[in-house]
Amino acid sequence: MTNKNYNGEMASGLILGIESSCDETAAAVVRSGGEVLSNVVASQIATHALYGGVVPELASREHLTNIVPVVRTAMAEAGVSLAEIDAVAVTEGPGLAGALLVGITYAKSLAFGLGKPLIAVNHLEGHIHAVLMEAVHADPSTAALRASGRDDKILALVVSGGHTHLYLAEERDGVWRYRNVGRTIDDAAGEAYDKSAKLLGLGYPGGPLMDFLAGHGDPNAVEFKLGGIKTKPHREGTARGGEFDFSFSGIKTAVLRYVEVHSMRERAEARHASLMQIEGDKREAALALCDTETLNLIASFQKAVVSYLVKQTMRAAEEFGAGSIVVSGGVAANRGLRERMTAEAAVRGLRVAFPSLALATDNAAMIAAAAWPKFVTGEFASDELNAMPQLRLG
Ligand code: KG4
Ligand code: ZN
Repeated sequence: MTNKNYNGEMASGLILGIESSCDETAAAVVRSGGEVLSNVVASQIATHALYGGVVPELASREHLTNIVPVVRTAMAEAGVSLAEIDAVAVTEGPGLAGALLVGITYAKSLAFGLGKPLIAVNHLEGHIHAVLMEAVHADPSTAALRASGRDDKILALVVSGGHTHLYLAEERDGVWRYRNVGRTIDDAAGEAYDKSAKLLGLGYPGGPLMDFLAGHGDPNAVEFKLGGIKTKPHREGTARGGEFDFSFSGIKTAVLRYVEVHSMRERAEARHASLMQIEGDKREAALALCDTETLNLIASFQKAVVSYLVKQTMRAAEEFGAGSIVVSGGVAANRGLRERMTAEAAVRGLRVAFPSLALATDNAAMIAAAAWPKFVTGEFASDELNAMPQLRLG
């Protein structure tokens, strides 16, 4: 593709992406929206784990410390100079205001100093493009997920610590459009994982550990009920009165009740104290510290959450005639979700794509990838760009 950049020079196709919406400071260089030359993520998990969740003030401070070295490392690993970059892309929202501002301010000054365009990206659009980028890159001949007929509609499930949203995504003349057709009315799925993990003494964020431990318990031991939320017939912007919405606060309460009724709290506290002593990979240690009752509870929790996510996604795909499903966000790393979604999609003849593990959780390659179509169509941000903590997609 030959594109002229801002100054009328031939474009190299290189976009520097910057992401700082939550607790990862990230920078990446991606060529033409598909080839990842570098993808650097400085995680703040160790800082926030001590408090059992993300502390916004600490997040901003860590972003400030990390942003310059992270961008430098991303440039060095890509082997390109700042002068060769075509544009700087940055997450404008949703996320923590102070955290977003660090990335935005830095991206703005960098773009201004270099005389390159600035591109604003919605974090949720980024998650979707993490998958599209990899799918198309792996199979450019078919443009993988964007085939013809009814199949040109993509249903995207963005499932993370902050979101459980369903979007219909369509591309026309290089411009992507999204329609939000479902969302959580309370907690996000990742939040349900993290809160349940905390109750069981597994630390923060507990999603990955819960996923691992779920493989060692009986998924049919405890029956959890999910879904059956009351629909709000006239909720604005939602298809069919919230029929494809999610609710996760019920299962969180159910886990809490189970822990109380089965006197599991003391065991959880002891487990937490032991796990805090362990650095690095805690999986085997956590397994050794879990009794059968706890493992069964975790396996049953995972089965219930995964079934619910898959059921709502399949129902929406059918309703809106989507031929492809894209799953993204931190919980897209979940083994159970990958297995069930893949199996159910196969039964229905739908294509399904997940991000690689590196691109499932927050990163900047997805921001640079989502920025590419905007670069091609010249959709640039002004120097008034500000953080949009509540930004929506579609
Ligand atoms: O997308 P992400 O990095 O950040 C947000 O935008 O929230 O997602 C992080 C979330 C956390 O809640 C984490 O526990 C969850 O994703 N997560 C998982 C898994 N890996 C990460 N949840 C379940 N199973 C996993 N394997
Ligand atoms: Zn995210």
